[in-house]
Amino acid sequence: MEKIPVVKARLADAIGQSVCIQGWIRTRRDSKAGFSFLEVNDGSCMGNLQVIADAALANYESEVKRITTGCSVTIEGQIKASEGNQATELLAARILVHGWAEDFPLQKKRHTFEKLREWAHLRPRTNAFGAIARVRNQACRSIHNFFQEDGFLYVHTPIITASDCEGAGEMFRVTTLDLDKLAAQNKQVDYSFDFFDRPSYLTVSGQLEAEIYATALGKVYTFGPTFRAENSNTSRHLAEFWMVEPEMAFFELTDNMDLAEQFLKRLFRDALDNCQEDMDFFAQRIEKDAVTRLEKIIDSEFVRLPYTEAIAILESCGETFEYPVSWGTDLQSEHERYLTETKFNCPVILYDYPRSIKPFYMRVNDDERTVRAMDVLVPGVGEIIGGSQREERLDILELRMKEQNLDLEAYWWYRELRKFGTVPHAGFGLGLERAIQFITGMTNIRDVIPFPRTPGNAEF
Ligand code: 4AD
Ligand code: MG
Repeated sequence: MEKIPVVKARLADAIGQSVCIQGWIRTRRDSKAGFSFLEVNDGSCMGNLQVIADAALANYESEVKRITTGCSVTIEGQIKASEGNQATELLAARILVHGWAEDFPLQKKRHTFEKLREWAHLRPRTNAFGAIARVRNQACRSIHNFFQEDGFLYVHTPIITASDCEGAGEMFRVTTLDLDKLAAQNKQVDYSFDFFDRPSYLTVSGQLEAEIYATALGKVYTFGPTFRAENSNTSRHLAEFWMVEPEMAFFELTDNMDLAEQFLKRLFRDALDNCQEDMDFFAQRIEKDAVTRLEKIIDSEFVRLPYTEAIAILESCGETFEYPVSWGTDLQSEHERYLTETKFNCPVILYDYPRSIKPFYMRVNDDERTVRAMDVLVPGVGEIIGGSQREERLDILELRMKEQNLDLEAYWWYRELRKFGTVPHAGFGLGLERAIQFITGMTNIRDVIPFPRTPGNAEF
């Protein structure tokens, strides 16, 4: 008997087939006529398969009538056309219960997302977390498809590194030194005794290494876990998140913007096309505009706005902000939200930021006050992409590094990329979780990654 996933068993094509399905019980209802309805879900889709369990089954009284939400089952039987709202149902010939689920916490009422975070081991069995997992999977496929179809090379950049790409000092240290022992002996840390012979960290970005490959192979991307020891407890920050970073030789900032816009639209389009049932769920339960909002964005053009103009808009808009704005300050999320939600109500690409608030690697503009930075802001989430054209001129790069008190020696290899066959190049980073937040309408970033890492949380 063929094992098939519920997603296939629910299609009219399956009618007449004898099949075996395996999954978890969502509900059981007993009819007065002496049979039971079971709703089975196996994670292959949002919808359940309805199973008719007749009293004639050998274990009907002894087992089937004891089945509760959360039990795991294998069911063999025949797919029939259904008279209910779904296309098909399964008429069971045999039901095997693998595991009972007494006192299953997800049995009864709907729980809040906060509560479900305490049950990271069980929350994927809910409709919402199943849908999020499938949309996240789809986004990862789309990321690879988009870049692979366009001739990009997938490069694996290291997780452990000695350099702080963003220069923000938000790195987790990696060491094999016995810190307890050093502390007990009141000793200074000597990194020449450490595993890598130097202070090492978890990466905050694969960009610098991606630049090495882009300046040899043209168009590359890296996609992997990224770590930031930012002590911010917000709905948009994680200590461990996934970032996709394309890096392109011979690209200028406008090429970079075009690519970012096409890329985001592709992610949104694929989610709508390939996760319809899940997207409908988000529209019904999480955010009523989830689907229409994406459709509108796919058909529109992103606003492109220089930082200097954005400041002028914010200064004259008449809103009172908690943090005052003026030229030279970094934008707070309230400012980003004003621009993308109130003023334009669509994604906004802000570019040409002051050099003083952006990392050393961004290309300095002719005005010498601004750099070729770009941030993509979207309604509801704020910054979803950060990127730039890179400084390819060695003398200016070194000037910028000194300006930011960086140790030039430590970046010798990065500087040599400018010494040997330097090229204009650009790239950006998309935070996967922020993209999933935007697609699904989920308000807290902790709910769009299977196992969120935030200050004080690493249990599961
Ligand atoms: O703007 P960021 O810091 O840019 C970089 O790291 C560049 N090196 C990328 C590049 O040009 N290759 O981070 C990029 C994106 C942000 O826009 C945001 O979506 C996400 O990464 N991000 C986070 N997501 C979740 N939690 C955090 N703590 C994040 N920090 C950044
Ligand atoms: Mg940024």
